[in-house]
Amino acid sequence: MFLWGTATAAYQIEGAAGEDGRAPSIWDTFSHEPGRTRDGHTGDVACDHYHRWPEDVALMSELGVDAYRFSISWPRVQPAGTGAVNPKGLDFYERLVDGLLAAGIAPVPTLFHWDLPQAAQERGGWLNRDTAHHFAEYAALVAERLADRVPMWITLNEPFVHMAFGHAMGIHAPGQALMLDALPVAHHQLLGHGLAVAALRAAGAGQVLITNNCTPVRPASDSDEDVAAAEAYDILHNRLFNDPVLLATYPDLSPYGDLTLDFVRDGDLATIAAPLDGLGVNYYNPTRIAAPTEAGGLPFTDAGITGHPTTAFGWPVVPDGLRELLTGLRDRYGQALPPVYVTENGCSQTDVPGPDGTIDDQARIAFLDEHIQAVMRAQREGVDVRGYFVWSLLDNFEWAEGYHQRFGLVHVDFETLRRTPKASYAWLKSFLAAR
Ligand code: FCB
Repeated sequence: MFLWGTATAAYQIEGAAGEDGRAPSIWDTFSHEPGRTRDGHTGDVACDHYHRWPEDVALMSELGVDAYRFSISWPRVQPAGTGAVNPKGLDFYERLVDGLLAAGIAPVPTLFHWDLPQAAQERGGWLNRDTAHHFAEYAALVAERLADRVPMWITLNEPFVHMAFGHAMGIHAPGQALMLDALPVAHHQLLGHGLAVAALRAAGAGQVLITNNCTPVRPASDSDEDVAAAEAYDILHNRLFNDPVLLATYPDLSPYGDLTLDFVRDGDLATIAAPLDGLGVNYYNPTRIAAPTEAGGLPFTDAGITGHPTTAFGWPVVPDGLRELLTGLRDRYGQALPPVYVTENGCSQTDVPGPDGTIDDQARIAFLDEHIQAVMRAQREGVDVRGYFVWSLLDNFEWAEGYHQRFGLVHVDFETLRRTPKASYAWLKSFLAAR
């Protein structure tokens, strides 16, 4: 069966930041620091999903999706990032899971979508190897409560983006600009993934996946320099996170100089490569890469995709890039590639309600339609794709962009928190009904 779903993440929708024993995450800290997010927006209230979740589940039930990918807030469940459980936090996710099941929607929780407990950050966060072990401890305690009802689990969301944006460039929480010194963050997240897979299996969890952000990388020209630069970028963005999980190896990082991966210990790669039931991939756009313009820095430069329409974010709309990505994964990993689920795909648009209050987001309808067709082409070309999740159910807190990028099938008025399904919601509803 092919799973059709929608996706969200805890910090982007829940709000209730200080309620019922939830401790701050790195995103609470970061978004409250001046200048970190556009207009100083924070997730304090977000979509208030913590209180309005029954309405949101009803919206999905009406939409007719099979599955809902959401994330669990680690500091809501285990405020110190290790040790004591916050029962009210776990109760919230149990209510949500039971509410979804009652509506006939499969719950697909992600255990880490970037909101590390601030207390764990104070112990060094993902630069500290202990965080990987603490993550598995947290995975175990969530699974002990919910594994009997949750059919599919995702360990991490986009460890590449968390490393690159959060720890290399500092534009996401925790705001560190370590450049290549952020590499241990990749390894410790991956180790945490592997340890969490074991913990989930031990608790009787059903299917277990990881979600990676993947981009097909195109060289800006066929010059040797551009091709080499594109390969270097592909290694960092895609292979650094897919190879260890699927092949139990790290790619050759020599384009990045003489790196010593002394944080990788014996046995780690075997842990990281624990068999999975699927690979989650998030796709937004391809990347065009050229040789670096100056020496001494990173071995690539982003040349930008041209000649395609763009979203409100300025991201190029290239639907066939999704087919290219899926067939590329199959070609690269062959038998080592488990079934693939597109765990995020979608676009931000301006989405201003018309005079009658409706939101006629035709560009989103075209985006989704074309990307779904690209998934079907990949399937016809033999890729075992088993699901597609729209990012996102609701307009929400888009990280450093605050509430400025609207990705939802459902419009949210951030003053009143009123939800209004957009035209794309009606389109997807009839698409799903016609299956
Ligand atoms: C992905 C994130 C998700 C959302 C989309 C637009 O990188 O996983 O939370 O912000 O981008």
